[in-house]
Amino acid sequence: MSKKTCLAIVLAAGEGTRMRSALPKVLHPVAGRSLLAHVLTAVRGAGTQACAVVVGPKSEAVADEARRILPKADVFVQTERRGTAHAVLAARAAIKKGADDILVIFGDTPLITAETLKRLRSAIDHHASVAVLGFRAANPKGYGRLITNGHRLVAIREERDASEIERRIDLCNGGLMAFRGEVALDILDRIGDKNAKGEFYLTDAVAIADGMALEAVALETTEDEVHGINTKSQLADAEDVMQWRLRDAAMEAGVTLIAPETVFLCADTKFGRDVTVEPNVVFGPGVTVDDNAVIRAFSHLEGAHVGKGASVGPFARLRPGAKLGAKSRVGNFVEVKAAELGEGAKANHLAYIGDGSVGAGANIGAGTIFCNYDGVSKHRTLVGKGAFIGSNSALVAPVKVGDDAYVGSGSVITDNVPAGALALGRGRQVNKPDWKPGKTATKPAAKATPKAAKAKKVSKKAKTKR
Ligand code: UD1
Ligand code: CA
Repeated sequence: MSKKTCLAIVLAAGEGTRMRSALPKVLHPVAGRSLLAHVLTAVRGAGTQACAVVVGPKSEAVADEARRILPKADVFVQTERRGTAHAVLAARAAIKKGADDILVIFGDTPLITAETLKRLRSAIDHHASVAVLGFRAANPKGYGRLITNGHRLVAIREERDASEIERRIDLCNGGLMAFRGEVALDILDRIGDKNAKGEFYLTDAVAIADGMALEAVALETTEDEVHGINTKSQLADAEDVMQWRLRDAAMEAGVTLIAPETVFLCADTKFGRDVTVEPNVVFGPGVTVDDNAVIRAFSHLEGAHVGKGASVGPFARLRPGAKLGAKSRVGNFVEVKAAELGEGAKANHLAYIGDGSVGAGANIGAGTIFCNYDGVSKHRTLVGKGAFIGSNSALVAPVKVGDDAYVGSGSVITDNVPAGALALGRGRQVNKPDWKPGKTATKPAAKATPKAAKAKKVSKKAKTKR
């Protein structure tokens, strides 16, 4: 099969009105990836050589997304929305180039797998000129019904055009089809618009092929896989199915998910072996977690790399560009953004590490802040190997703390600290000897005005008198 050439035509010209969103329908995300990206990823996995994406007018963002996933994709614009067959014919130039088989896929069907696309392609290989992907619908309402005669598929009837008896058929059209390349245009050009909606229905291809003595076949898949998205509620359903696929795949690969139903993954989340993820963790796009790392409860990770045996959380936030070295530790309520932590480095309770790097074995005390933003631009903070930053310090970037240097707690560090030095950048402690509890508490704080000084003296006197 792999020797056959294939053109995939992805229909994405729908307006998506029912999503009630300014974002084009196929750009809505499921598991952190657009619907279109899911479909195109499956298309790529099915061994297709060429891909045509049909978009509506003013859909630059959709075209850009298509090219981002498949740089070689050809984008065609369907200027008027006149039905699924009309949309396919917007890619006529691509069809004319010739391919052994042609796959037609809806851009709003993100759960379709490469395996199923391959099955559709092989159906064409063996005997048929048209292959249709069907499913048994729990509720067939709204779907086209597959009309069979023995093993042959003779027609697809859209709900609106179906008779009472035909509507009782529960084998429905999932919307995906494959054509033998040689005959595709011949079939498609015969499709008319004499139906309830006045549209050019792609589904008519089946009856037309039958009339041309060409065989059409139906393949079956699960309803999940052809779940089309028209509403936000259907988007959430697809998210749920996708999340379970990703969780199952992660567990299959040896990841421990203590409460999988509370862990949210992205289509591109990558795990090593023996990783443990505690409950209520969210993975945004672009996260890689190496072997033996532990992600503790209620952490949020995005665009981050977690090294071997590292520990994150509970309640940690890793933002894009966070790179944690092997065996490093990021504690509770710590946030790391665009910064690296070296091997064995530690960031404790409530620290913020933004823009910079922390050397191997360094310790960032509780409440330490990398002050990376001066109100105009971002600057970097570099903490050397084995350095120790005392709790509640502010490192004002750009600034560099040398290897094995020590910063006293509560310091505000604005100048570089040489390697091995102790830096103290805080008000000195003043001890008042002869002070009794309650002595100043009843009086207002002393002010540097003569009046206040006088008042102080008087009261002191009054007190000694008593
Ligand atoms: C279609 C099928 C129906 C099937 C169902 C499965 C047809 C005629 N009907 O119905 O048999 O059961 O899908 O979900 O094919 N599109 C365009 N341009 C157009 C029209 C549609 O690009 O002019 C795209 C849409 O963006 C969408 C896809 O084609 O991705 C399907 O169109 P839609 O109108 O949703 O078809 P259904 O009525 O759901
Ligand atoms: Ca639809």
